[in-house]
Amino acid sequence: MGAWLLLTSEAEAPDLTFRAERAAVAAALHAFCDTYLCDAPGAVGAAIRYSLLGEGKRLRAVLVNAAYAAAGGVGDVSALAAAVEVVHAYSLVHDDLPCMDDDDMRRGRPTTHIVYGVPVATAAGLAMVPLAARTAAAAARDLGLDVPTTGAIVRELMGAAGGAGMIGGQLLDLEGEGRPLALTDLERIHRLKTGALITASVRLGGLAAGASASQLDAFTRYGDAIGLAFQIADDVLDVTATTDQLGKTAGRDIALAKSTYPALLGIDGAVTRAEALVEEGCAALQASGLLTPQLEHLARYFVTRQS
Ligand code: IPE
Ligand code: IPE
Ligand code: MG
Ligand code: MG
Ligand code: MG
Repeated sequence: MGAWLLLTSEAEAPDLTFRAERAAVAAALHAFCDTYLCDAPGAVGAAIRYSLLGEGKRLRAVLVNAAYAAAGGVGDVSALAAAVEVVHAYSLVHDDLPCMDDDDMRRGRPTTHIVYGVPVATAAGLAMVPLAARTAAAAARDLGLDVPTTGAIVRELMGAAGGAGMIGGQLLDLEGEGRPLALTDLERIHRLKTGALITASVRLGGLAAGASASQLDAFTRYGDAIGLAFQIADDVLDVTATTDQLGKTAGRDIALAKSTYPALLGIDGAVTRAEALVEEGCAALQASGLLTPQLEHLARYFVTRQS
């Protein structure tokens, strides 16, 4: 009986490396390439494949999985999670372009425009937006979700990616270069350029699992808090980590004269703010009975990660 108990508790211990979830998302991304890229002309398909299959942490996808499970979802949500990674990968392709952050390294390899050239990388990024919409809709259908829920899922993802979300934040980020921004302005940029997609990831998991309006509200508050914390940590890593560690060029924010949290609050002040946001996010879920070990671990990882 003792052995049986041990086996049971081992079986139930959550895998906080999310190995299985990340493998399933990688498989889904491969399947997207095989299904949707055959007819893409020229190098566009190859550039999309290069961008999608790069070694990212897949944190947005893992968030979709974790929120889905927390809200009682029992299906395989990995294709929907992968659709979020399509939006994220596109954002990285464009973020690295010469007209944006002009970076030549991403995920430990040359950036997409270094390999395929700027016109192809630009087109590949653009083509990944409808790809994300199509794959999200197909994933919702395969999960057996009804038409209104499928519509809500695609709206959520595209809304977060759009002008009132990530793209708007990216533009404000570029406009802020070379100008000292107030903390409230920087916070807005971070919430838009990075937080919006992270909040959407959490909400998408909830929507797919049929979460109630009050549960979705708690997911929003958690996502908003840890989404801002994530970008603060990214700013901190830009000055504290090495290019090798990050797989992207360290020190880019200073080189581009961007306002950042460490520049405005100091490294310790930025870390303290990020940690407080993690507590705020977890408290919002705790109050709604949605705080699982996975969602708590992810929130903490967002600010303790080293890459
Ligand atoms: C990098 O995101 C871009 C930001 C929003 C800061 P990640 O750190 O999640 O990048 P990957 O997906 O692991 O490469
Ligand atoms: C990018 O923020 C946010 C995106 C929407 C891609 P950064 O420009 O700081 O991201 P990195 O540091 O290049 O990954
Ligand atoms: Mg940028
Ligand atoms: Mg950048
Ligand atoms: Mg950065």
